[in-house]
Amino acid sequence: MDKPINDKAARLKLAIQKSGRLTDHSLDLMSKCGLKYSRGKDQLICYGENMPLDVLLVRDDDIPDLVQQDVCELGIVGLNVIEEKRLAFEAKGIKPLFEQLMLLDYGKCRLSIAVPDGFEYKGPQSLAGKRIATTYPNILARYLADHSIEAEIVTLSGAVEIAPRLGRADVICDLVSTGSTLLANHLKEVETILLSQAAVIRTPVPVSEAKQDWIHRLAVRIEGVQQVKESKYIMLHAPRSRLDEIRKLLPGSESPTIIPLDGPGDKVVVHAVCRENVFWETLESLKKVGASSLLVLPVEKMLP
Ligand code: PRP
Ligand code: ZN
Repeated sequence: MDKPINDKAARLKLAIQKSGRLTDHSLDLMSKCGLKYSRGKDQLICYGENMPLDVLLVRDDDIPDLVQQDVCELGIVGLNVIEEKRLAFEAKGIKPLFEQLMLLDYGKCRLSIAVPDGFEYKGPQSLAGKRIATTYPNILARYLADHSIEAEIVTLSGAVEIAPRLGRADVICDLVSTGSTLLANHLKEVETILLSQAAVIRTPVPVSEAKQDWIHRLAVRIEGVQQVKESKYIMLHAPRSRLDEIRKLLPGSESPTIIPLDGPGDKVVVHAVCRENVFWETLESLKKVGASSLLVLPVEKMLP
């Protein structure tokens, strides 16, 4: 049986982004992992009602620090922030106390160098002697060092995209997702220096057995949620003689279940979990090799 979930010290804390590209996905992920929560008056804490887990809503840049300081055992944040903090701590001789537990399938974006329209860019060496505005000075510094480029890093806390127009910088180094911010600011992406997506981080500091157990359960559930997204359950009728061809057409499926169909004839029912999306084209191909009564169902939960 689970330990009582009211004991404060036994409750896990997970930090997620308060408002931004990761917020909705992260809360949705926790709900899909079975967490029911009530939101505190200040809206900054979600108290878990059926798990010993509370979710703190904070600025994404603060998430690694909260894990570092052992305020939270877990955090969901972009690789961009994780890497920037790791390098910042290392530069100060501080050992980073956050570890990547698993990657998540959302929050995909990239950290790129972008130049104003009209800037003559001929490769990384064109950045030599330029002022580069960014909120990621450590990742940028590493990139410049790796390419033996001497340039000035202008560290800003936001609104990087307007720095060239304000005359504060010549080029920028910022996150790009859809590219619409760059487009709106007449900037052109010229180099990608880091690929990013959301990840779960955890403290490397040992936690109680009960907490460790919940971290593990949560990780397994997250894996399950991510797997299920693309998975489909497919059912069809088929002549037994065409089973080999049908098996080959089922996308990403393990051995299907074959059930004989009642009545005369050699028809069977095939049930399979496909770990990829099932497209209309696949169904059409299955029909061509004799399948009928095709049904494709979403999969809600899955545990290996
Ligand atoms: C980034 C970046 C741009 C925007 C780019 O900010 O600074 O403003 O996203 O996205 P787009 O290519 O889709 O237009 P973010 O939302 O991550 O905010 P933050 O840096 O303040 O956390
Ligand atoms: Zn941020």
